[in-house]
Amino acid sequence: MQIETIATQPIEGQKPGTSGLRKKTPVFQQHHYLENFIQSIWTGIGGIAGKTLVLGGDGRYFNERAAQVVLRMAAASGAARVIVGQDALLSTPAASNLIRKRGTDGGVILSASHNPGGPEEDFGVKFNMPNGGPAPEGVTNKIFEATQSITEYKILEAHDVDLSTPGETTLGDMVVEVVDPVTDYAELMESIFDFDAIRALFKGGFTIRFDAMHAVTGPYAKAILEGTLGAPAGSVVNAKPSPDFGGGHPDPNPIWAKPLMDLMMGPDAPDFGAASDGDGDRNMIVGKGCYVTPSDSLAVLAANATLVPAYAGGLKGVARSMPTSEAVDRVAQSLGIDCFETPTGWKFFGNLLDDGRATLCGEESAGTGSDHVREKDGLWAVLFWLNVLAKRDQPVAELMADHWKTYGRNYYSRHDFEGVDAEAANTLMDELRGKLADLPGTKAGDLTVKAADEFAYDDPVDGSRAEQQGIRLYFEGGERAVLRLSGTGTVGATLRVYLENLVTAPGDLHEDPQKALAPVFAATDEIAGIKTRTGRDAPDVIT
Ligand code: G6P
Ligand code: ZN
Repeated sequence: MQIETIATQPIEGQKPGTSGLRKKTPVFQQHHYLENFIQSIWTGIGGIAGKTLVLGGDGRYFNERAAQVVLRMAAASGAARVIVGQDALLSTPAASNLIRKRGTDGGVILSASHNPGGPEEDFGVKFNMPNGGPAPEGVTNKIFEATQSITEYKILEAHDVDLSTPGETTLGDMVVEVVDPVTDYAELMESIFDFDAIRALFKGGFTIRFDAMHAVTGPYAKAILEGTLGAPAGSVVNAKPSPDFGGGHPDPNPIWAKPLMDLMMGPDAPDFGAASDGDGDRNMIVGKGCYVTPSDSLAVLAANATLVPAYAGGLKGVARSMPTSEAVDRVAQSLGIDCFETPTGWKFFGNLLDDGRATLCGEESAGTGSDHVREKDGLWAVLFWLNVLAKRDQPVAELMADHWKTYGRNYYSRHDFEGVDAEAANTLMDELRGKLADLPGTKAGDLTVKAADEFAYDDPVDGSRAEQQGIRLYFEGGERAVLRLSGTGTVGATLRVYLENLVTAPGDLHEDPQKALAPVFAATDEIAGIKTRTGRDAPDVIT
């Protein structure tokens, strides 16, 4: 086997976004495209000679091909060992766990998360650090710099490695260790939750539908929910990972997981419904006739954390991304613990978790997690809910009603305007930014602006600063709106408008969120000119 040095030149646009480099698959399949980026990762992290890495992906189209390239490039650059999931599969939280458990020098995750997969759809590559979390900006910037000056890459000339069975083999001088993708993760879950209580719950006739959305959590959910915990066979649906996610959009929200929503809102609803995304880090929770927003879910988990063995001693603190609702803030306040507000992107939680300042974290974008790994974790959130329900012996709807009675309800919704002309979207944000100082005191629709600013974050651990992380409008009645441009889209710009209104009056806790938030959207539209600028009458997606 021979190491080849291939001459190449920089390819434009290889700048990692919120969560690694994401592009259409044909872009990744272009000559040298993947290879340039992988070599730049090696350069950006200071080389991989003698290092051990974890490798796996969500099983989407091009996953295994890309994995073979990564292996040959790792071998060519002197890596000592790569631990790779069987069939090149690893959910993102399972990869994070393996990196930590095995004390590796990091890992490469092949995924475009919740974006559709297939020959014409999306692919992605992301590097995670030795702590198991996504590379911070300092590192992704170095990777990006390397993509701009690359002149050659190294790759081993070799046959494909057989990834279909667990065991060790070699590729050149490098050891390739193929592992079952589920085993270590399942052990971790068992060490966190009260599996006996959940087993008893199922034994008592509790029913669940877990929709794996044809994505990577299928094998994990089957093994843990149906296998270890005894949920009835067939509780986990769409459990076989498919390269194009069954032609669907593996994003667990009421729009893309509509069949699950329909079931849960209908007469044959099981007690509990849940779904996870392409790479297994997002989750959706829904009770019988009762959808739980990710923001509320975080608040409920925080309020009930001591029912879970791993968190029985209490939480060190909680953290949420800025656009996530303030529901968890109210729980933190009553628990007397810190609540951190970070920019969008899981990577911003890493330091807080590493430094022991936060135990639970969550984002409105269906991400919830804790210090057990350094990624958000879909199945973990589902098991957390099951543990809480088993201990409280209460249906989801009743639990939510209790929660709102205690803490008030933060009505919450996100309106997305997708595939907007990038220039129009930037102009909207620039104009809004330009008038922030003049907004306080002005009337918009039925509301009056109390304060307006652009969110910047100073990391309390490493002192780094992230600017321009979303524009916040606070209104006199306690309402809040946030506007920001998505960092994960692959076509044009996506404008996200996050709407929130805290209500504490006991009689007003069960309204339709869209109705409760209509005045907030109207006021925000009047201020920012959303409909005019985007040319859209209504959002493409409401979550
Ligand atoms: C990914 C990240 C999340 C982030 C989400 C939304 O899933 O892992 O941390 O919240 O993208 O990002 P966006 O920039 O599209 O709103
Ligand atoms: Zn994901």
